[in-house]
Amino acid sequence: MPKPSPYAAQLAGSGIRAIMERARRAPGPVVSLHIGEPGFPTPPHVGDAIAEAQARGETGYAPSAGLPALRDAISAKLASANDLALRSERVVVTAGGTQALHLGLTVVLRPGDDVLVPDPGWPNAGGIVRLLAARPRGYPLRKANGFLPDVDELARLVGPRTRAILVNSPANPVATVLDGPLLERLVRLAHERDLWILSDECYEAFTFDGPHVSTARADPDGRVLTCFSFSKTHGMTGLRVGYLVLPEVLAPLAVRAQEAMLACVGTPVQYGALAALTGPQDHVDRARTAYLRRRDEALELLRATAVPYAHPAGAYYLWLRVHTSDTTSFAVRLLDEQRVAVAPGRAFGDHGEGWVRLSLAAPAADLVTGIERLVAFGAEAGSSRHA
Ligand SMILES: Cc1ncc(COP(=O)(O)O)c(C=O)c1O
Repeated sequence: MPKPSPYAAQLAGSGIRAIMERARRAPGPVVSLHIGEPGFPTPPHVGDAIAEAQARGETGYAPSAGLPALRDAISAKLASANDLALRSERVVVTAGGTQALHLGLTVVLRPGDDVLVPDPGWPNAGGIVRLLAARPRGYPLRKANGFLPDVDELARLVGPRTRAILVNSPANPVATVLDGPLLERLVRLAHERDLWILSDECYEAFTFDGPHVSTARADPDGRVLTCFSFSKTHGMTGLRVGYLVLPEVLAPLAVRAQEAMLACVGTPVQYGALAALTGPQDHVDRARTAYLRRRDEALELLRATAVPYAHPAGAYYLWLRVHTSDTTSFAVRLLDEQRVAVAPGRAFGDHGEGWVRLSLAAPAADLVTGIERLVAFGAEAGSSRHA
């Protein structure tokens, strides 16, 4: 029997999915705080645009890089929302932010390369790197540094095989937002050490204390690739539309790679994405306001308990310290005994151990109940509140 690909064989199952499965099989109702789904449905004008495209018979292949009208609308959005003025030829429409990252890494990595990835960080990123016969190496996001990248430490981690740094802001799971000066330092490091930067900005719409800043704003010479998504911003996770923004020299490679990898993203959902960009935006404002309100309610509850947490500045997560050295079994026991599902910190990397992630996109009442039960169950009563 031939052997399977060692790169596929080494992928570990997600620790979040394991909780998801267990929650699904639970005999009674579960307070679900473990998932990363937006807390609102897909806006009707998006669904209408998809249905209309299908009714017009637009169900054939689209160009590999995406519908021209959508790429133009994305280019206009990049100028107005991200302060990035660039031609639509530098945009490739992808199947969500996940495939944007896959495509971006595909055009910059060689087998045996290292990619520096945030730890704790979104686990799929490491999986994509592994599938490309490269190696993810975690750079710690430490409590002592407010869960932000420490650029000096990152510089020490750059080795002869390091090809790229993955940056994620707003961040999953630690909910930090990287400001302009920090992004400039990261891009300067990439410039000095001749590295690519993959900037995952899928949560760009949700910042609470300051603006979202795109890493590519600081890009001096075309070394930043940026992954965006319709999933979180527009409540479109299951429709699978995102986009990759590339430096001029890489864009034609990415279009050809997209042709080989996917042919194209589904035509009707691209019309849905176009409607999401050009139609009413009040669903985005409503979601941001709701997440912010839930964040403030959750923090008020937590302040009374002295449980350490990372201050959520963006995305829609709450990163909480728990009194255990095995968050995976903690999450299982919390689910079995208290009917509260959270994502175990270990699922996000070695430095996630001792923490759990809760979703601020869950209904407010669930969040309050979940936090109360979690705290009673054994969250650590530390002396310092703010991480
Ligand atoms: C940090 C981060 N990046 C990218 C994604 C990809 O999302 P999608 O592929 O749905 O756009 C996610 C999804 O959870 C995420 O948390």
